[in-house]
Amino acid sequence: MTKIPKKTNQILKNKIFPSTLKLKLDERLSNGSFRELTIKNADLVDFSSNDYLGFASNENIEKLATSKINDYKDLKFGATGSRLLSGNFPLIEDFENYLADFYQVESATTLNSGYDANLGLISAIGQRQDLILYDALCHASIRDGIGLSKAKSFKFPHKDFENLKAKLAKFQSEFKTIYVITEQVFSMDGDQTDVKEITEICNDFGAYLILDEAHAVGTISQTNVENSNYNIFARVLTFGKSFGAHGAVIFGSSELKDYLINFAKSFIYTTAPSSRNIAHNWAAHLLLKDSIDEFEQLQFNIAYFKEISSKFNLENCFIESYSAIQSCVIGGNNQVKNISKQLEMKGFDVRPILSPTVPNGEERLRFCLHSFNTKNEIYSVLENLSKLLL
Ligand SMILES: Cc1ncc(COP(=O)(O)O)c(C=O)c1O
Repeated sequence: MTKIPKKTNQILKNKIFPSTLKLKLDERLSNGSFRELTIKNADLVDFSSNDYLGFASNENIEKLATSKINDYKDLKFGATGSRLLSGNFPLIEDFENYLADFYQVESATTLNSGYDANLGLISAIGQRQDLILYDALCHASIRDGIGLSKAKSFKFPHKDFENLKAKLAKFQSEFKTIYVITEQVFSMDGDQTDVKEITEICNDFGAYLILDEAHAVGTISQTNVENSNYNIFARVLTFGKSFGAHGAVIFGSSELKDYLINFAKSFIYTTAPSSRNIAHNWAAHLLLKDSIDEFEQLQFNIAYFKEISSKFNLENCFIESYSAIQSCVIGGNNQVKNISKQLEMKGFDVRPILSPTVPNGEERLRFCLHSFNTKNEIYSVLENLSKLLL
């Protein structure tokens, strides 16, 4: 057996780093926005993960996933290649057909993550003669996708549909195709888009809507199947949130699927997911449709959180939200980190969201609520927060 060499004190060969990059790190250190990896402390009460329904530790998923794997003969653990080469296997095709059926859509295309899905989809569709209009609070994966596309782009103020309509009217004749991108539940503020209204606006102007449903499925709606009733060009749904798993799917027409297979680079130039990953995601879907108790418990916890935050007169610091994401704006990277640290010392895991992830001055504590949080935990964390904010 080859021994792994121990680290020595001698200068390692890879210890070189450009001073220009070091400067950027130093700048982060000095403005309090330096990011560090920390191991999640499992003893703390979870108000930070996206595991809204507790699926990440639901043992039934493991059992269902194993039984799915056992339904297939000759399955390898690893995909061995990209979907277009050696990595397309019956389990993955059957899962996509299941998803299309379950969500009542024409096609489902899986990708390795929500980040990959937004990046691949948006960068591939935006052509030079096109325009992309996107909500100012869209996720980094959407903005990165826009950055990689050839289209021109403008953001519209957060949920300002009048502004969106004005832009659509102004640019309608100038651009061949206009895409509008938004999220159903915004990841940092937790508030919601009126999907019906924005779909109607897009339809009126002949624009194509892309909707990111990452934080909506399993939280504001048990399955989000109802979005199939709307005329939406593309929907992105991730498996890393309520499903407690990893990966994502893009819903749309069969032509959209053909287009992604041909042009979405994050689909083409990457190894397909492992069979275990697909089976896990499938199992999480099977569980989701029977998880009405978890879904209702989460709704109860959201309502209880809002009730107690108003009891402690905290409504003014919280951004109005009826979803599992409740953000308390404090302002200042150091201030928000400090309050998060003090809550941690009381046994609660509530993460600080720093600028530049959110705008300067809007640094916040983001509470993620779960079906498994108890009334006691919710009461106690808000009581502690109110004392710290006094
Ligand atoms: C709105 C939104 N879209 C996409 C993503 C990316 O999803 P994933 O974590 O699967 O890459 C996230 C994750 O933070 C998100 O909040």
